[in-house]
This record gives sequence, C-alpha cells and structure tokens, in this order.
Amino acid sequence: MWKGRFKEETAALLQRYSESVSFDWRLWRHDIEGSIAHSAALEKAGLLTGAERESIVQGLREIGAEIEAGKFPFRQELEDIHMNIESELTRRIGSAGGKLHTARSRNDQVALDLRLYLREECGQIVGLLRGLQRALVGFGRRSGQTVIPGYTHLQRAQPVYFVHHLLAYVEMLERDAGRVADCRSRMNVCPLGSGAIAGSTIVLDRELVAGLLGFDGVTQNSMDAVSDRDFAVELLSALALVAVHLSRLSEDVILWASSEFQFVTIGDAFTTGSSLMPQKKNPDVAELTRGKAGRVIGSLMSLLTTLKGLPMTYNRDMQEDKEPVFDAVDTVKAALEIFAAMVEEMSVRSDACARAVSDPNLLATDLADELVNRGVPFRSAHEVVGRAVALCGERGCELTGLSVADYQRLSPAFGDDVLSVLDLERSMAARKSIGAPAPGNVAAQLERWETRLSEA
Ligand code: ARG
Repeated sequence: MWKGRFKEETAALLQRYSESVSFDWRLWRHDIEGSIAHSAALEKAGLLTGAERESIVQGLREIGAEIEAGKFPFRQELEDIHMNIESELTRRIGSAGGKLHTARSRNDQVALDLRLYLREECGQIVGLLRGLQRALVGFGRRSGQTVIPGYTHLQRAQPVYFVHHLLAYVEMLERDAGRVADCRSRMNVCPLGSGAIAGSTIVLDRELVAGLLGFDGVTQNSMDAVSDRDFAVELLSALALVAVHLSRLSEDVILWASSEFQFVTIGDAFTTGSSLMPQKKNPDVAELTRGKAGRVIGSLMSLLTTLKGLPMTYNRDMQEDKEPVFDAVDTVKAALEIFAAMVEEMSVRSDACARAVSDPNLLATDLADELVNRGVPFRSAHEVVGRAVALCGERGCELTGLSVADYQRLSPAFGDDVLSVLDLERSMAARKSIGAPAPGNVAAQLERWETRLSEA
C-alpha cells in the first residue's frame, strides 16, 4: 500500500510483529459499513461515478459475505483488517477500488471502526445487565419473606430480607447500565473525514457520512479525532466496575453456598464436582467471575498505560488498544450471561437462613433504639446495651436470656415489655425509613423493579 517510497520489502519478522489482522478482523463489519458510507460522500463530491460506487458497494458486500462464511483469505502481510479489505476490493473491481481511500486515512478509519464496534457492544452489554437484573429480581421474588443476617465486616449486623440484599445488586447494575449508556452517547460522533491528522484538501460531506452511519454528529477537531481513545477508556472503566460488582456478588454467592452459611443452593448445572473429593459441589461460576474481574481491571490499566505519554496524534502504540478492549468486552458479556443463567437456577434455603437470623444479637441496636424512644441519649443507650451483651457473655446466654429485671438494672428506662423488642417481625416492621427493609418498603421496591425491567 505504500510501495512508492520503499525499495525493499518489509522484513517477515516485522510483518509478524506489526500485524493486527489476527485480532482486528473482528472489525470487518464496521469497516465495510464505514467504507460504504464513505463512498457515498465520494460520489456526492463527484470523485466516484454512480457505477463506480455501485461496484465498490457490491464488492464490499461480497467480501463481507465471505468473511462471515469464514472463507476470506486474510493476509498477514497486509497488516490489518482495513488493508485486507481494501486490497481485496481493488483486486476484484479494479481501479474504482483504488479510489475508495481518497480523503481517508487508516487513522480516522480505525477510530471510526472502533466507535462503531463499541457502540454496538454498548447496546448488548446494557441488554445483558438488564438480564442479570431480571434474574436477581426473579430470585428475590422466589425468596419470599426469607430474612437473613445483614453483615458488616462480615460480622452479623442487622436483619434484612434476602430480597433486599439482592436488590442492592440490582441498584448497582442499574448504575452500570447508566454508565454504559452514557459513554455510548459520548462516543456516538463520527471521526471519519479527519484523515491522518489534518483532514484533507479534498472536502467531503462529513455530515452525510455521519447521518448514514447513525451518528449524532461529527468530531470537531481532526487531531483529537484520530488520537482520541477516551471512549474506549470510558467503556473499559465502566466494564471494570461491572466486573467489580460481579466479583462482589460472586463472593456473596460463594459464602452463601458454603456449608458454613448454607443460605442458597446453586443448581447442579452451574456447579462442578471435584475429581478427588466426592462430596464437593463447587461454585465455579462465581469463582471464575471473581477471578475474571482482575482481567478486566487489567485491560483498563493496559489501555490507560498505552495512552499515557503518547504525543499527538496517532501513534502505532494505539494498535495495542484492541486486544484489551475486545477481551474486556468479551469477558464481561460472558460473565453477565452465565451469571443470569446461574441465578435463575439458585434457590434460597430458608431453614438455614432462619437459623442464622434467630441470633438475638442482630437486634441489639433495636434495644438501644428502644431506650432512645424512652428519652435516653443514643450514646448512653449504646453503652447500656453493650453492657447487656457483655453480661450475656459472662453468663453464656443470649440477649433473650436476660430477665426484665436484668435489663432494668442496666437501665431503669427499660419498660416491663423490654423483651418484646427482641422480636424479629417487630424489628423488620419498624424499619420504615426510605430505603430500609420494612416489609412494605421491600415489597414496593420489588414491584418497582419488576415493572421497570419488564418495560426495559
Ligand atoms: N492497525 C492500525 C491500528 O489498529 C490501524 C491504523 C494504522 N495507521 C497507521 N498510520 N499505521 O491502530
């Protein structure tokens, strides 16, 4: 493609080192779509006849069909997907093919292809996030009135409905979907026409191209347009956060499925056994997902590090953007897909949950709140209940094991009905503030999500 200036062939070693077609072939559809739109602008500018454009479009479509069928002979010496397609087009249709690259550089071409590709992926990722949200909401519905201990520091803290815990993840995934959609809207501007760096002396209708490709507008600075990979960084950082959320959910699932917790059962189809220990049923989906978070975060770091310190504008370093981008997208999509399927096959073990949540210490704060309602400042109330817990420790009993007289010795403010405070149902019913897990609140949230996700 650049033979004019060179006397010698590129070394085979360099061809192998610099090729990207082994991975950027995946951009073929977007490359062809972009070229077809570009050819419309060339025709409008009078640089292609109608017949020439027709043969270009038809040639590109044929090439596309061959790539799709796995029959296209990609050539490493042609470096990337862009040159593979263009050179094959010219071989097929002759001189019209040689006109396609007019007023275009691979620099704006690759920026275009990557935007088109990621724009499409954004839509799919949002769909998969919705799928997992739906699965979690469905699981929440199946879990009914099950209450579990909520944890802080992985120590039993206060009781929550199991569904309340699941809906916390639904909220996180909602923000993730918002971030992906937001980054899609920012990436949806067309860089084509920026050329290598400084546009072209041949002026094409950029707005026409942008319109044909469904962009919201065109980039406004040719140098920025060919050197910008912010849109990829943004998406990867959104995906890194999705991966972190999935990793945290994984950790909860792993704990819940353990013999120590026994809060959930994962369907056989989504667990694996041990080749050695016959009793094992391992939560591999969750473990792999937790592990893959490292990979996605690594992709984000890799891309940021590649871009850091690059002078304006396009530098070949930027070819290194593609593998981390592809890998992060593939990894997160696969994780979202399998997680949704696994959650659909999970069930809650209400017996074990009931056992865990019967721990009266979960209601220690309720006792302090009871004193507050009776006029005791919270700090003093906290101390009184702390002494009650210590007393239980000495006697080897639970908070329910202390007598009314014991409580009243600790604070005369306790009423004769103090023991009724240590009732789970009463405690749940009282948690009425917005966002807290009173039964009415949780039911309303569950319905809100069901409605929202059936529309989305
Ligand atoms: N394969 C290259 C990439 O992915 C395409 C752009 C090449 N541009 C250039 N001037 N060598 O970045």
